[in-house]
Amino acid sequence: MSAPPSPPPILELDHVGKVYPGAVPTRALEAVTFSVRAGEFVAIVGASGSGKTTLLNLLGLLDSPSEGRISIDGRDVTGLGPDDAARLRRDRMGFIFQFHYLLPEFNALENVLMPCRLAGDGRDLREEGRVRSLFARVGLASKIRRRPDQLSGGEQQRVAILRALANDPLLILADEPTGNLDSRNAAEVFNLLRDITRESHRTVIMVTHDRDLAAKTDRVITLRDGRMESDVVVADRQEPQ
Ligand SMILES: Nc1ncnc2c1ncn2[C@@H]1O[C@H](COP(=O)(O)OP(=O)(O)OP(=O)(O)O)[C@@H](O)[C@H]1O
Ligand SMILES: [Mg+2]
Repeated sequence: MSAPPSPPPILELDHVGKVYPGAVPTRALEAVTFSVRAGEFVAIVGASGSGKTTLLNLLGLLDSPSEGRISIDGRDVTGLGPDDAARLRRDRMGFIFQFHYLLPEFNALENVLMPCRLAGDGRDLREEGRVRSLFARVGLASKIRRRPDQLSGGEQQRVAILRALANDPLLILADEPTGNLDSRNAAEVFNLLRDITRESHRTVIMVTHDRDLAAKTDRVITLRDGRMESDVVVADRQEPQ
């Protein structure tokens, strides 16, 4: 009896390092090596300054590593030029930040469709139906015409998550997505992220300081002084047949 072949990793890091240049160069990451399967929900934890945001920036192709290699969906992206990186970000990735950066002068629906609209290929029109169903899914169907200042903090963060999902990205990168919310809203936002990604088999890499939330993901990677201190699978989730 042999196990069925596992799908190729969506993300692979091989001895990734980052040194920030300067009068006194700062080593932020060293020899970070791991791979992530499609559909995994991974938490990155670690003390302040341990390299979490640096790692997320590298995964999001917002910065390039000083050493090592990164592959996304089987493609080596280590030396990608800015145009290719931007295209990959736009087509394959969704970003969620601690502060949501919704555009104040646009309503919720327009904010969520903005990345699609910026693609300039009519995909905002094609995706509108799916995006509207996402609003319904998170209980915001009646509020799609509200501007961010007419929504609560938790509602705004849900809109920001929908925006990250609007392109139907393979990889969702979140830096403290619940850091600004009270515990009830944090749990709601977290559950939303988890449910949507489970349903659509998307991959989430989430930086968090919240150990309780981290324990509800599939896997927790702990950074310490830029190195991987541990990599613990929380629950081996079986995919439905
Ligand atoms: N642009 C930069 N230039 C120089 N050093 C930097 C830069 N950004 C981060 N660092 C340094 O790199 C290290 C890792 O920083 P990073 O922002 O990745 O930490 P973090 O784990 O996200 O921390 P926090 O939990 O506080 O957000 C720190 O020592 C930090 O001071
Ligand atoms: Mg950080």
